[in-house]
Amino acid sequence: MRIAVWGGGSIGLLWAGRLAERFPETILLTRTREQRDQIRANGLRVTKRNGRESLHSVYVEWSGDHGLPVFDVIFLAVKQTDVAKIASELPRVCHSSTDIWLWQNGMGQEKQLRGYFPQEHLYHAVTTEGAMRRGLSHVEHTGEGESRIGQISEGNVSPITEKTLSILSSSELSIAYDLDIKRVLWEKLAINSVINPLTSLWNLSNGDLLDQDGFKPWMEGILDEVVQVAAFEGTALEPRTLVNKILAVCKKTAANQSSMLQDLKRGKKTEIDFINGAVVAKGKQHGISTPVNAKLTQLVYRAEETGIPVSG
Ligand code: PAF
Repeated sequence: MRIAVWGGGSIGLLWAGRLAERFPETILLTRTREQRDQIRANGLRVTKRNGRESLHSVYVEWSGDHGLPVFDVIFLAVKQTDVAKIASELPRVCHSSTDIWLWQNGMGQEKQLRGYFPQEHLYHAVTTEGAMRRGLSHVEHTGEGESRIGQISEGNVSPITEKTLSILSSSELSIAYDLDIKRVLWEKLAINSVINPLTSLWNLSNGDLLDQDGFKPWMEGILDEVVQVAAFEGTALEPRTLVNKILAVCKKTAANQSSMLQDLKRGKKTEIDFINGAVVAKGKQHGISTPVNAKLTQLVYRAEETGIPVSG
């Protein structure tokens, strides 16, 4: 089975290391030649949760290269902000049954791939794991979590995806197929809508949110709007369950800096449009007002411009 991980960010590197252990033919596709060369020279270093380091000799290629092979499964681990940019490049590494697992935070990635792939080959891959890239060839696994995979068109899971899951899933790695992936996606959107902008705007690690009562009104305001919008989209969410899930993720990924904070610190565009911005956009479609998510979206835009986290 030939698997590609497209994207050398924190989640991409984390999965490349794991996949290389189980599927030796795995190829990591990096966005830059510089990252490819560093990984070729140094190997891929992964700092595990117990602090131990492992060094993986993964195959790595530059995603812009021509002459790449075709893959059975592609772990698409680029940010939401890059999905549309690479959509037209993906078909050259796919055969007619390639499955694509979409690892982005937020909502709407499948729409950006519309027209390029049959929907039944697209899978949402939703994870609550924490990871931080420490350099171009080094990633630290900063928080335990779960990954859930589900077909976007809600049909039958393909034999390729089923086999990949059965080889990956183990007592140390929580990954499984979920028939109700829409609910999982909404729950993850709720988690990201709270953790990502608050940690980014106040420059905090995920665990810091647990100690400060001042964030409660923000959390309640965000979740109230998410729950209303999700209900109009056909998913009933329970606020208490969401709060518990968010607190659990903050605890398990306490030392992690959220992906949004990592993006801001690197001067990169964040995924805010696909997280709190998605809540606002969907709210508008249904005539629901979402002032808290709208305010946070604006504050993150401002932080993107100024390049430094600001306080609200
Ligand atoms: O975006 C992130 O950082 C992650 O989705 C999560 C789970 C919030 C952990 O930091």
